[in-house]
Amino acid sequence: MEPVIKIRNKIFALAYRNIFKPVAFAIDPEKVHDWATLVGRFLGSNPITRAFTRLMFDYSHPSLEQEVLGIHFKNPIGLSAGFDKNAQLTALMPCVGFAYEEVGSITGEPCEGNPKPRLWRHKDLKSIRVYYGLLNDGCEKIAARLQKARFTSPVGISIAKTNNPETCETDAGIEDYVKAFKAFAHIGAYTTVNISCPNAYGGQPFTDAKKLKALLQELDKIPTKKPVFLKLSPDLSEGELNEILDISRAHRIDGFVCTNLTKKHHFGDGGLSGKAVEALANAQIRTVYQKMKGKTVIIGCGGIFSAEDAYAKLKAGASLLQLITGMIYEGPQLISEINQGLVELMKKEGVSSVSEIKRT
Ligand SMILES: Cc1cc2nc3c(=O)[nH]c(=O)nc-3n(C[C@H](O)[C@H](O)[C@H](O)COP(=O)(O)O)c2cc1C
Repeated sequence: MEPVIKIRNKIFALAYRNIFKPVAFAIDPEKVHDWATLVGRFLGSNPITRAFTRLMFDYSHPSLEQEVLGIHFKNPIGLSAGFDKNAQLTALMPCVGFAYEEVGSITGEPCEGNPKPRLWRHKDLKSIRVYYGLLNDGCEKIAARLQKARFTSPVGISIAKTNNPETCETDAGIEDYVKAFKAFAHIGAYTTVNISCPNAYGGQPFTDAKKLKALLQELDKIPTKKPVFLKLSPDLSEGELNEILDISRAHRIDGFVCTNLTKKHHFGDGGLSGKAVEALANAQIRTVYQKMKGKTVIIGCGGIFSAEDAYAKLKAGASLLQLITGMIYEGPQLISEINQGLVELMKKEGVSSVSEIKRT
């Protein structure tokens, strides 16, 4: 079966590179994102198209399965927050081969996002510059949507602060996070508190130690059985990162998503994804793993385009991974390619499960 899947993936990679990508990359990126969401909703809407998608893209192997924080993951690769902002693709993503997906980021109030254009490709950097500004339907509407959904794989909920002047004051910002956190306290497998959106009105106030403490104190009071992650910026100084880790130890934080988009560029508005963030993300994963002495869960994210890229993040200390940009540049068969490649890399290293991979 392995050689058949390899050939299947090669055919899709060729078709994507030579037919789909040249057309898609000639069109406005946000339009392509909207169309991809529409097609994805259709493919996820009935058992026949779901089974077809599974046949085209899925891949499973026992050595990729793991239990993290009591949640079963069939492989380490998840869809990162920002692709399925309004949680409309939860039925399809498991068929594309993702073990899990993180929907959102979702805010307390509905949010129209920043004025267009707000998404650009930087092909030379294999990156996307994102200035969406937390466009989403808001927590009430999305929670109602997800309450009706039946999940076949874990769904993480990314929450953020509504992007408007009204939430700029610390107390109002916390209230907004609390509203979204409460709305999803019993929906999905885990919650990620996104404190690192590079495009939020008023900056990233909750990377400040005092404000983060105040936010986490309030979130701690909300009953939930779900693990809670904090999503970090790759641009944090060592001092800022140390403070965030110290504060997290005293609160209900089970792990970290490393990382969000980087603002370290000179192209104008927005943050960069993909290869522009990879080295920063890998360095942060390694630091968090060492500083937390391996006693936290790290979801590694940023610039994963191949099995080797994924393996580097696992070796740095991540247990789970996420991606978006790699899929956009390489095609949806990438998830299966990475997972099949990971099985081979683990075999070469002589380990039989993801948790046995030796950290470096
Ligand atoms: C189009 C787009 C939208 C994004 N929106 C969000 C978001 O709403 N919330 C969030 O936490 N991260 C968001 N991100 C960041 C990604 O989740 C991820 O951290 C980053 O892109 C690095 O991964 P990648 O290189 O695999 O894309 C977005 C990224 C992209 C490309």
